[in-house]
Amino acid sequence: MNYFKGRSLCVIDDFSKEERLYLFEKVRELKKAIADGDTEKRDSFRINDPDFGIYEVFLEDSTRTKESFRNAAEFHHAKLTEMSADNSSFNKGESFSDTFNTLCGYNNRIFIIRSKVEGVTRHLDEECTKYAERNNLGFKPVFINAGDGKHEHPTQELLDEYSFLEDNNWDTSYLHIALVGDLYHGRTVHSKADGLTLWSKVKVDLIAPQELAMPEAYVTKMRENGFEVTEYPSIEEYLKSGKCADKWYFTRPQLERMGEKILQKQDELRKSITFRKEFMDKLPQNTRFYHPLPRHKVHPTIPTFLDETPLNGWEKQSINGMYTRIVLLALVSGRIGDDFVPQIRKKEVKDEDWIVEVKPGEKKTRVISEGVNPIRNGIVIDHICRGEKPEEIRRHMILMRRVMNLDSLKGGEWVSQGSDGSYKGIIFRIGHFDLSHKEIKRLAASAPGCTLNIIEDGEVKRKIRTHIPPRIYNFDDLMCTNDACISNDSQNEHVGSMFLRTPDNRFVCAYCGRVHTFKEIFKH
Ligand code: CP
Repeated sequence: MNYFKGRSLCVIDDFSKEERLYLFEKVRELKKAIADGDTEKRDSFRINDPDFGIYEVFLEDSTRTKESFRNAAEFHHAKLTEMSADNSSFNKGESFSDTFNTLCGYNNRIFIIRSKVEGVTRHLDEECTKYAERNNLGFKPVFINAGDGKHEHPTQELLDEYSFLEDNNWDTSYLHIALVGDLYHGRTVHSKADGLTLWSKVKVDLIAPQELAMPEAYVTKMRENGFEVTEYPSIEEYLKSGKCADKWYFTRPQLERMGEKILQKQDELRKSITFRKEFMDKLPQNTRFYHPLPRHKVHPTIPTFLDETPLNGWEKQSINGMYTRIVLLALVSGRIGDDFVPQIRKKEVKDEDWIVEVKPGEKKTRVISEGVNPIRNGIVIDHICRGEKPEEIRRHMILMRRVMNLDSLKGGEWVSQGSDGSYKGIIFRIGHFDLSHKEIKRLAASAPGCTLNIIEDGEVKRKIRTHIPPRIYNFDDLMCTNDACISNDSQNEHVGSMFLRTPDNRFVCAYCGRVHTFKEIFKH
């Protein structure tokens, strides 16, 4: 069994820590074999099959990622094709899935895709795998995310991690790193929120002005992953702290992703994230700078006078790109990796823990606390948005009525105040109800923490306490709010939304990673 064969890499977390360490060990072996002139060892990495199809589809500009993958594919003596999207049937309105299904049908196994549409490789991995199965293609296509909008850049993360390890004697016990630059739009730094879990103890200093600050969801994820995170508005302020990291990772201002308002301030913003000569003597000993590149020839945030200094870690980092990608292709093609056996199993997501049945009669419940006569037959949804402001609760109950299809039924809703002064919403409906598992799931997703009472002949027959479900999908009225996401209606790709529960009880889009509250996942 080869654990890597046929695996896609859509986000860095698709490869576990031990899988990445195995990959890095193979990169070390390959680099050594090449340096030593050990051709037998070097050739043991090659796919060596002129019919093995590798497709590059770059819908955004690139030099390093595209060319290192091209050189990696040539190393493998595989069939490399570059799709020219400009004169493809994308221009006739063809969808991503139809396009890539077609290319799979021509015996292409690995697709390397860069796009401004976020989550596209995850979607294609699902769709094209089904296509390959129903057409008996005999292989599972692999999708590699070469950068999707401002979401992730997992192969850059691989080569970054490899470079940090190589420069740090392969030590995975501790990493202190400063992330400097456009942390808002930069996808390479977003991949670090999961990627840096490779180290046992991680300290991350985020250096960016407020307009380019790391999105809150990634900061939260870093903290959930146990990182110590500190934020600074500029390099100048950071140096004053006297607690600087020995690794600085710069990322360029992503002008192409900025809105007009930020673009107008670009000179001022750039100043706070550009290194200057006068800063040199304030750096700790053995500091090294990294950069995914490109750097701007007029406004480099790492000035060129640093190229000839020991600070320069970015050139070796760039060179490592090709070796890392050679090994990645060797693994997912199944050429190498047979000897890898995972020691740690990924935690399975259980689907049951979001619904708790409370035995009727176990706790005496007054079905309706105020306002109307007791119900004989019906449902009462209680504890809606407990603790929120009355107007916010009322607004959310309008959405819930639609989500639960309650508008045409007899009943009512109100906001109630408890003895502790907090507010909660209550909805009741009259009639006989036999709610399905799917309907209860919708209720749990739209109002986690609420209780559902099903009343028959004046008695509570079923009482259910709900929590956020670990997964929610397969509903037409769910939608990710990120309009750059493949599953957002504005992309017209007809991808059903899917959300996964986060450790802090929010919902993350399974495609683009945007984090939502339970109030945001249903179409408004
Ligand atoms: N680091 C990186 O992604 O560079 P390119 O945009 O040149 O591929």
